[in-house]
Amino acid sequence: MKFFQNIPLEEKILKHLKTSSGLISGEKLSKLLGVSRVAIWKSIKKLQEKGYPIRTYKRGYLLENKDIFLREELENLIKKSSFFEEIFYSLCTTSTMDIARELAEKEKKAIVLAERQSQGRGRLGRFWESHLGGLWFTLILKEPLPLKEVFLLTYLSAVAVALAINKTYHLEAKVKWPNDVLLFEKKVAGILLEIKAEVDLLLYALIGIGINVNNEVSSKDFLYPAISISEGLGQKVSRLPLLENFLQQFEELLQNKDHILPLWRSLSDTLGKKVKVISSGKILIGKAIDIDNEGSLLIQTEEGKIERVFSGDCFHLRNFIL
Ligand code: BTN
Repeated sequence: MKFFQNIPLEEKILKHLKTSSGLISGEKLSKLLGVSRVAIWKSIKKLQEKGYPIRTYKRGYLLENKDIFLREELENLIKKSSFFEEIFYSLCTTSTMDIARELAEKEKKAIVLAERQSQGRGRLGRFWESHLGGLWFTLILKEPLPLKEVFLLTYLSAVAVALAINKTYHLEAKVKWPNDVLLFEKKVAGILLEIKAEVDLLLYALIGIGINVNNEVSSKDFLYPAISISEGLGQKVSRLPLLENFLQQFEELLQNKDHILPLWRSLSDTLGKKVKVISSGKILIGKAIDIDNEGSLLIQTEEGKIERVFSGDCFHLRNFIL
């Protein structure tokens, strides 16, 4: 794991703070870790300067938000991955897409993950609210994929997110065209694909994935009503198994690309619904009947005509008055 490295003593302190249910005193930490209280105090200060929410009380220290990844948790995750080789982790960054773009020139098969983003972005340059508690990460892929197959990466990622949510928390997340994952018909995750290509070949793809897990979401931040997993379940959840299951599903589907579209269809909340799609300023209303092998949504209009749309904003009309 690179990018944001806490020194080993800071990591050890963090681990104790994360696992302790109440305050933990400087004295106890110094005994547990076999270092002086001054060394503990200095490391705590460094962690606070880096942005870790550690409160200092007279009787000890408290990590106010325990939902923060530890270095060893992420290192173990990467060890289990058969595809990704490295994870770049930070507490806060502008956007994991920016970091990933810089890294993509030299790194391959890496993941960039941040606890918070100050300038998270969604499709069409929209702002993406990224508070503590969500899963915000970008996958760097350097696969020699023909350009006409690149669209599959969005479908693959949405399917992997939905399957991972369902497996981890026993829920029924679904996919929504073109790049969303829904829970109880509200947006729980979004995918942002950015690529660099030459002639007909992909040089690299950056797949940005944002999942509302334990973070607060307000639907005004989204074009579509939004929800977090913890809101759907009525309790906070652990993010690590979700990330692990996602990576497993993602890697499996990358090896079996012919499974992607059938799985997307079976998890789809869009197909069969009346939809309104806004694409390049044009509005289309009709029934979503299928996606074709190029990734276009097929819409049957009221006049019975079949229209194909490759990208756009899609609204399920059953639930909305537009
Ligand atoms: C969308 O639904 O519009 C796509 C949202 C993608 C958000 C993720 S969070 C991680 C990565 N970094 C970003 O700035 N955006 C993507």
